[in-house]
Amino acid sequence: MAVVLTAEEALEKAAKLILAGNPVAVPTETVYGLAADATNGEAVARIYDVKGRPRFNPLIVHVSDMEMADAIGEFDPLSRLLAEKFWPGPLTLVLPLKKSAQIHPLVRAGLDTIALRMPTGFISRLIARVGRPLAAPSANSSGRISGTSAAAVNADLGARIALVVDGGPTPVGVESTIVKSEGGRLRLLRPGGLAAEEIEAVAGVKLERGRKAGLEAPGMMTSHYAPGAKVRLNVTEIARGEALMAFGPARAKGAEGAKAVCNLSPKGDPHEAAANLFSMLRELDATGAAVIAVEPIPAEGLGEAINDRLRRAAAPRDIDGISA
Ligand code: TXA
Ligand code: MG
Repeated sequence: MAVVLTAEEALEKAAKLILAGNPVAVPTETVYGLAADATNGEAVARIYDVKGRPRFNPLIVHVSDMEMADAIGEFDPLSRLLAEKFWPGPLTLVLPLKKSAQIHPLVRAGLDTIALRMPTGFISRLIARVGRPLAAPSANSSGRISGTSAAAVNADLGARIALVVDGGPTPVGVESTIVKSEGGRLRLLRPGGLAAEEIEAVAGVKLERGRKAGLEAPGMMTSHYAPGAKVRLNVTEIARGEALMAFGPARAKGAEGAKAVCNLSPKGDPHEAAANLFSMLRELDATGAAVIAVEPIPAEGLGEAINDRLRRAAAPRDIDGISA
């Protein structure tokens, strides 16, 4: 197991490890990240190794201020507007990479664009302390449920890293929303912790969904967030012995025969549901139930990201289990 330190006591130790080329698990406002120096190829290679992540799946680069961001990505006016409005926060912008940027090529897996985010929380202080951008995917084994607590991260990756920084449960609970501006149009590459409606209200344009050919956000493969149990979505009737992931005040038929019940948000609040999603998925999986049955969750606001993650959790698994 890794050493676990609270955010208050961990800054110097985490900075030392990062500067020596080691990945460290750190809290962000969305999920825990496995952070390493984005300018150091060996450090970045260690992220891929620790996660078992395919190297064609690029990483998000995290910055602590606009000066650092401007040294890495080419901001068009719309991307700049979104950065001004929503950073620091759960939004990732995909931008053309600046030629002069000091980002190791392994971070972007051969793409000529870079995914950039300015997060809040411990990671922001850490970036400012080391003075370098940090590459950080979610802190989970590739294809598994993202970690939203230090304990979950330590159980998954603790044997392969030296330090987990404990900042408590992450407040947003799902990963950042990823968008890409293309000549005044905006494409949603991954729904996440910032609702599409909020982005549209600021941008004045609709987010375009749906993919071009190929893997555009290469991590968006179908099976991901895979628990051990099978996941059944939009259930209105529970079979005896299934574990129930509930939402809102009204229960599906047969709920009393469920092996276990977790309610994402008894009052039906999508923010609360997002914050609980991954920890409750783990908790229900740990009951050993063969099936996790999930009640319907409305698609609006953060519901889009919640339904996206649940669809991936329910998707047929790749034969070799490889995903993001
Ligand atoms: O909230 C988050 O975004 C968390 C925290 C730790 O910041 N990070 C996170 O990273 O979710 P990860 O690696 O689990 O997901 C990053 C996603 C992947 O789907 C990857 O393919 C996509 O970002 N991505 C990275 N660079 C890209 C690029 N240049 N163009 C398109 N997609 C990109
Ligand atoms: Mg991930």
